[in-house]
Amino acid sequence: MSDARGIVVAIDGPAGAGKSTVARRVAEALGYTLVDTGSLYRASALVAERAGAAVDDRAGVEAAVRTAVARGALRLDAGDAGITRVLVDGDDPGEALRTPAMSMGASAVAAYPGVREALLDAQRAFGRTGGVVLEGRDIGTVVFPTAELKVYLTASAEERARRRCDELRSKGLDADYAVTLSEVRQRDQQDAGRAIAPLREAADAVRVDSSAMEPAAVVDAIVALARARGAV
Ligand code: DC
Repeated sequence: MSDARGIVVAIDGPAGAGKSTVARRVAEALGYTLVDTGSLYRASALVAERAGAAVDDRAGVEAAVRTAVARGALRLDAGDAGITRVLVDGDDPGEALRTPAMSMGASAVAAYPGVREALLDAQRAFGRTGGVVLEGRDIGTVVFPTAELKVYLTASAEERARRRCDELRSKGLDADYAVTLSEVRQRDQQDAGRAIAPLREAADAVRVDSSAMEPAAVVDAIVALARARGAV
C-alpha cells in the first residue's frame, strides 16, 4: 500500500484516549491527510435525527444513512490543510456533532451493520493512496487491515473521563465527573460489545497507554514508529 505518497497510519482506541489530538499532530508532523472517522458516525446520528428516525429504529437509521451517503448528503470533504471534515447537507455541523447526546447517538448507530457498510467506501477512498492518518475504532481491524502502522491508543477509564470533563468545561459546557465516567464506561461497553466491528486491538497493533503520558510524548513515539515503517 505504501507508495510515493506515504504509508497508512491507523490509530484506534476507546473514547477519550487522546486519539483526536494525537492523530492530528501525527498527521501534521508527517505532512499526511487526517481522517477522523468518528465524525462520520456522529454525522450519521445527525442524519438519522434529521430524517426522523429514532436511534433504536435500526432499519430507519440504516435507510437514512444509506440514502444520505448515496445522495452525497453525508460525505467526507478534503477540507483545509490536510484535515478532512464531514459534510451533512453540504455544511460542516462543527460542534453540533460533539455534544454528549450526539456521542451516545453515534455510539448507538455505529452498532448497525448497514451504517458501517455505508461508511466504508468513504473511509477507504481517502486512505487508498497512502499518506494518511485515520483515527477510529476499527481502522486496523476492518477498514485498513493492511495498514503499515497500527496503533492502539488507550488510557484508564478514570483518566479518559477526567479528560472529557476538562474538554467539555473548556467549551463552557456542564460536566459532572461521575456522570462522565459512567458514560465513558457505557460507551466502552457498547463499542466493544457490538457484534459488528467491535472495538478491539488488532493482533499486529502497537499498544500505547497514554494514561501517564503527555500528548507530545505520544506523538513523538508514533511519528518514530511511522518513520521506522517507511514514512518520510
Ligand atoms: O471517536 P468518536 O468519539 O468521535 O466516535 C464516535 C462514535 O463512533 C463512537 O462511539 C464509536 C463510533 N466509531 C466507530 O464505531 N468506528 C469508528 N471507526 C469510529 C467511531
